[in-house]
Formats: sequence, structure tokens, C-alpha cells
Amino acid sequence: MAESGVADRSVVDLRSDTVTRPTAGMREAMATAEVGDDVYGEDPTVNALEAEVAALFGHEAALFAPTGSMANQIALQTVVPPGDELLCDADAHVVTYEIGAAAAYGGISSRTWPAAGADLDPGVVAGMVRPDGYFAVPTRAIAVEQTHNRGGGGVIPLATLRELRRVADADGLALHCDGARIWHAHVADRVPLAEYGALFDTLSVCLSKGLGAPVGSLVVGSAERIGRARTIRKRMGGGMRQAGVLAAAGRYALAHHVDRLADDHAKAARLAEALAPFGVLAAPVRTNLVPLDLTKTELDARGLAAAARAEGVLISVLGPRQARLVTHLDADDDAIDRAAKVLTAILRH
Ligand SMILES: Cc1ncc(COP(=O)(O)O)c(C=O)c1O
Repeated sequence: MAESGVADRSVVDLRSDTVTRPTAGMREAMATAEVGDDVYGEDPTVNALEAEVAALFGHEAALFAPTGSMANQIALQTVVPPGDELLCDADAHVVTYEIGAAAAYGGISSRTWPAAGADLDPGVVAGMVRPDGYFAVPTRAIAVEQTHNRGGGGVIPLATLRELRRVADADGLALHCDGARIWHAHVADRVPLAEYGALFDTLSVCLSKGLGAPVGSLVVGSAERIGRARTIRKRMGGGMRQAGVLAAAGRYALAHHVDRLADDHAKAARLAEALAPFGVLAAPVRTNLVPLDLTKTELDARGLAAAARAEGVLISVLGPRQARLVTHLDADDDAIDRAAKVLTAILRH
């Protein structure tokens, strides 16, 4: 088990897997990283990270970006011209939490299928595609999320993705993967990253969620697309200089924190097992997210979160009666046991 960087061990923070702090080993890798000016393409650690991630997904190139949101938006701008259309899930991060960026920066028109999490139906998506023509907004790309955040960490099955690839190919569309937590899907379903990579034209993958790096995502794709992505990143203000200190954290995370995600999945399953008798699980737990639906209880999400906080356990409120717990590198087995004890005690009363 990797060492934890949590400063205050008395608080169990299960709001998100973004709350992790760099471990001692990661900080050491950052402190000793070789760096250069990445806008000149001269940071050896960034270059190494980009090459490594491109190879992992079997693509020609990758581009380091500060955040998952920026990586998604850069990728989308490479596949959908201004005025044209992107199809995605109504609960997708790209249309829920990226503050209208596709429209504001890319001039991209988005249309959504009814929220389905990981259970999306490629037939429904196929029925939404609008062909090229002057009379309607032409569809250019389809985006999916692996794993699905608002879909409770669900994993889209490989067969569904292959079917979606056929849908995209039938109409010459690009397929984008918001792979902020694709590592979790890889570990849960034992699908090689390159197999996922082969299905998508572009991917964004994140180092600062479950992998525990403080900063960083990558856009993955063809050399031609990543060349354009580099220009778009600069336009969006994402050209960083001695970013090798951050890339070093990402390289360390890839080397040390991918396989251990199975521990986080096991911890989420244990939490789910403890909470299941109260009828509050919104969906089966597949990875590191535990989505809660409190409609069968007398509690609302704010009430549960406040009561848990008073006992030193932090959870996320997603809606009036929806909440979420997320397991990660900085919440060890004892922390999970404590959270389960606190939450079950609140639910029992
Ligand atoms: C599925 C998904 N995509 C993208 C992002 C965006 O990442 P960032 O917060 O680094 O912009 C997140 C963040 O939680 C996410 O869950």
C-alpha cells in the first residue's frame, strides 16, 4: 500500500478522489525532476510523460494539460468545428461541470441522450445522429465517460463501446472518451488500456483523480490532432513552462498507483455492503464511487452530510437526496471502517 499524504488523519474525507495529497515518494520524484520550458517543447519529463501515455493507449501522441476539463475541451475542439454538434449523455461531465466551455470556447452545439450512466444504448445514440447538410446542425462527434462519474462510477462494457464505434464509423463521426477514471475501468474490467485506446479518436485521461497526482491530465490522439491540440491549449492559456515537476508526479502515479486502484474498489464495496441494509445505494458499486439515494429514508443529503461531518466524515452532496462517497489513496482501511460506523449510526436513527 502506498504511503498517505493526508495531513489531518482525524478527518475521513470521502468527498472525492481529488482530495489526495502527493505521497512522500511522489514529492521526491517531483523535487528531482529534470525540467525545461515546455512551451518550447523542451521539458524532458513532460515529453517522457506524453510519450508514455500515448504508448499506453496505442496512440501516436499525447498532450499534457493542467486539468481534466481543459483536456476534454481541447479534445472536443479538435473533433467538432464551431457550430457543429457533439452528442453525449445528459449527465456527462463535459456538459454538466465544465461550465458551458464547449459552447463558450469551441462554439460547439451539444445534444444529449437521456442520462443512462454506463448503461447507454448505442441504438439510441445512432437514432440521434444528424447527417451533414445545410438545414440541420451536423453531428461530428460522440463523447462517453469511462468510468461514469454521475453514473456512480459505472463501467461501460467493452461490447457497448465496440457497438458505439460502429455507430460512429457508419456516419464518419469521431468518438471521444472522457477517461478521467479510465484507469478504474481498466482495473475493474481487466481491459487493457490499449484496447480502450483503439476504440477512440481522442481521449482525455486524468492523473489527479484516483492516481493521486496533484495536477494534470492528457489529451491522447493522432499526431495530427495532438498538433492542433497543442495550439488550442496555448490559446486557452494552458501552455505551461517548467511543468516537468508536475509531469514527474504523473509518471510516478502511473508507475505506482494504477494497480492499487483494486484496493479502492474493495473499500468502496465494503462501504456499500455496510450501507446496503438501509436501502440507500443508488446503483451497484463497480469502482471507487458509492452513490447514495436517500429517498427511502427520512434524511436529506445535506442533513446526512452535516451529521457525518460532525463525526469527522466528509461526503459529497449531489442533489436534495443524492450523496456520494469516494474511496481513494488517502482513505485507508481504518478510515473506511470509521466512515461505515459513523454513516450506519446516522442512518439507524
Ligand atoms: C468524469 C470527469 N471528467 C472530467 C473531470 C474534470 O477534471 P478537472 O477537475 O481536473 O477539470 C472530472 C472531475 O472530477 C470528472 O469526474
